Amino acid sequence: MSEIHNVAVLGFGTMGAGIAQVVAQSGRPVTVLETDQDRVRAGVAHLRSFLDGGAQRGRLTEAHRDEVLARVRPVTDVAELGGSDLVIEAVTERADVKRQLLGQVTGVVTDDALIVTNTSALSVTDLANAVTNPERLAGLHFFNPAPLMKVVEVVRALQSGPEVVGQLASFVESLGKDPVVVKDRPGFLVNHLLMPYLNDVIDEYDAELATAEDIDTAIKLGLGYKLGPLELLDLIGLDVHEHATQSAYDATLDPRFAPPPLLRQMVAAGHLGNKNGNGFRTGNGSIQ
Ligand SMILES: NC(=O)c1ccc[n+]([C@@H]2O[C@H](COP(=O)([O-])OP(=O)(O)OC[C@H]3O[C@@H](n4cnc5c(N)ncnc54)[C@H](O)[C@@H]3O)[C@@H](O)[C@H]2O)c1
Repeated sequence: MSEIHNVAVLGFGTMGAGIAQVVAQSGRPVTVLETDQDRVRAGVAHLRSFLDGGAQRGRLTEAHRDEVLARVRPVTDVAELGGSDLVIEAVTERADVKRQLLGQVTGVVTDDALIVTNTSALSVTDLANAVTNPERLAGLHFFNPAPLMKVVEVVRALQSGPEVVGQLASFVESLGKDPVVVKDRPGFLVNHLLMPYLNDVIDEYDAELATAEDIDTAIKLGLGYKLGPLELLDLIGLDVHEHATQSAYDATLDPRFAPPPLLRQMVAAGHLGNKNGNGFRTGNGSIQ
């Protein structure tokens, strides 16, 4: 594979829409696969509203917005992905769903088309077994919202070819983002370091080290972080963090990843963070 021009994105949800936008903004045509027309409409609406917001803030002109939209072609049939140089999988975070779709895709694209997964918590090495020529598969872990977040983790599965990893890093640079090459391990780099930190904070809050507000203020002002850890947990979603850190614990048996008791209780009580207005810093989610 010499040059990445035609790109396919699998899934037109939160991440698929953001990734399709980033790729289209780099001037490339993007084909986006969804399960049905309702999901296509939702994906297009998501993409359009993000671009409209950018146009209103003066980040891009209305003409540029229309050019970007015109480069995105939604489809519902995997057979339409035949001419892709690169396929970016961003469907529902379930190994069975991803493996089945990756298998279908390899039956359609050429043998040297690159295939990447945007999974957050599944093993890229396991997913690589779902495709023929697994050396052409790696992870490209975009952060949410993809159009705004500047870093992309290039995740090297055990099978990933070194030249494939290099090509993907160059592709990420061509999107105007910074690639960081990282081994395939639970949480890759950023979330691997983030999960134990958040778990520690929850335990310290539970031990009444300080109030939630003071913990966030101290970390923001003391370390120069944009968000305090408890605000960040509310933003991520307590259920999402619990699932991620439980998966990392199951994969490693490393106690740093074990979900703290207070986190489990809050999720069990339906206190999920900003998404339902109940969390550490929002609503009356705190049980203390
Ligand atoms: N949301 C985040 O903050 C975030 C950040 C980084 C990575 N990720 C990862 O990105 C992936 C997608 O997450 P999301 O938040 O966009 O999920 P989402 O639920 O918003 O979107 C997933 C989309 O995939 C579609 N889909 C499911 N099966 C499909 C199939 N067989 N063919 C085509 N489309 C199919 C669904 O209809 C849905 O629209 C997951 O692996 C997730 O772990 C998410």
